[in-house]
Amino acid sequence: MAGKFSLVSVMGALLVLTIFHDPIIVYAGQGVPEVALFTFGDSYYDVGNKQFLSSNKNLPQTLWPYGKSRDNPNGKFSDGYIVPDFIGEFMAIPNGIPPALQPGANLSRGASFAVADASILGAPKESMTLNQQVSKFKKMITNWTDDYIEKSLFMIYIGTDDYLNFMKANPTADASAQQAFVTSVTNQLKNDIGLLYSLGASKFVVSMLAPLGCLPIVRQEYKTGNDCYEPLNALARQHNEKIGPILNEFAKKPNGGFQFTVLDFYNAVLRRTRRNHNYRFYVANSSCCGVGTHNAYGCGYVNVHSKLCEYQRSYFFFDGRHNTEKAQEEIAHLLYGANLNVIQPMTVRELIVFPVKENMREFWEPNKLSVRRRPRSSLDYLDLSAYY
Ligand SMILES: *[C@@H]1O[C@H](CO)[C@@H](O)[C@H](O)[C@H]1NC(C)=O
Ligand SMILES: *[C@@H]1O[C@H](CO)[C@@H](O)[C@H](O)[C@H]1NC(C)=O
Ligand SMILES: *[C@@H]1O[C@H](CO)[C@@H](O)[C@H](O)[C@H]1NC(C)=O
Repeated sequence: MAGKFSLVSVMGALLVLTIFHDPIIVYAGQGVPEVALFTFGDSYYDVGNKQFLSSNKNLPQTLWPYGKSRDNPNGKFSDGYIVPDFIGEFMAIPNGIPPALQPGANLSRGASFAVADASILGAPKESMTLNQQVSKFKKMITNWTDDYIEKSLFMIYIGTDDYLNFMKANPTADASAQQAFVTSVTNQLKNDIGLLYSLGASKFVVSMLAPLGCLPIVRQEYKTGNDCYEPLNALARQHNEKIGPILNEFAKKPNGGFQFTVLDFYNAVLRRTRRNHNYRFYVANSSCCGVGTHNAYGCGYVNVHSKLCEYQRSYFFFDGRHNTEKAQEEIAHLLYGANLNVIQPMTVRELIVFPVKENMREFWEPNKLSVRRRPRSSLDYLDLSAYY
């Protein structure tokens, strides 16, 4: 009896510790099945594919100071690791996932199909649309069993280039032209996710777009000074509003087994650019590496004498549109373990362990995101959303 009681109290103590310890700290692979990670999208999730498509032998992301913090410029847009590297680490994938286009890559724990400059629409130069990435996956699909694909994680971040290019080509587009464009982008995104689903993928992690108007390269090009360029933020918000409902629709099909979660990257970035000191980023309105008013252009270019900040970890942006390794690590933690204000209807960890073939019981809800609740009681202070 006494033994049982002490076990119960130990369990209780562990539970309490777990609750208060929560979720910023995660341990590699702990209690998580060995599944694969597949990434799709643009430079945010490209672990080196661009090198295999580009005729440029001096791609900036393969040159110093990219990869500087790990002494290894390897085609990733950061001073070190990027989000898929950290997620791979949490999933106990040795050495992370390789670029799918790399000949002879070890594909046993997945691959990255994302390519810098990728878009959803159009025909990006020396890159691939999301649709072409999915076709590539289809060509290689016999490298993995159906069961394994069904259990594995499919992460998508794409759309930035669609909207940056649209805004450049149509600076005076009115509201209805903008709406029509967002609709065609998100319809194609839905189509491509549907294709992956028809190929056997069932666990999707889709990130909302960043507040594009706050990227240093955008502030610099549109000369907004310390402000964000609102028209691009508005486009990103319109895009983001559609993601959850599209995924809900897939997930609500009876016996479909479609599972997903959505990261509110938009507000996570906005909080960090507005209250950067709260998040211990000394600078969040200009880049660590580059030239120009916001130090946002030309990092890694052989013909540009770009400046490099002294301490990368105090910057939120490494180059004009990509985050430092420190910020990427934080974002990976948000994906893996943040609360419903940031990622919903579940965390990536919960998504990995969610039984396959089962339908989700909770769905994405618009009102859960970016709502800043005033604490009603001291208990509400336990909601750590301000830290996310
Ligand atoms: C491929 O990587 C896995 C771990 O991810 C490892 O167990 C396996 O031995 C590797 N295969 C080869 C051929 O190197
Ligand atoms: C695995 O993918 C490679 C491309 O990396 C492809 O050449 C090969 O045919 C695939 N293997 C199988 C068994 O499908
Ligand atoms: C960034 O913010 C700092 C302080 O908040 C300000 O001094 C600086 O001028 C801003 N940089 C730009 C490029 O607007």
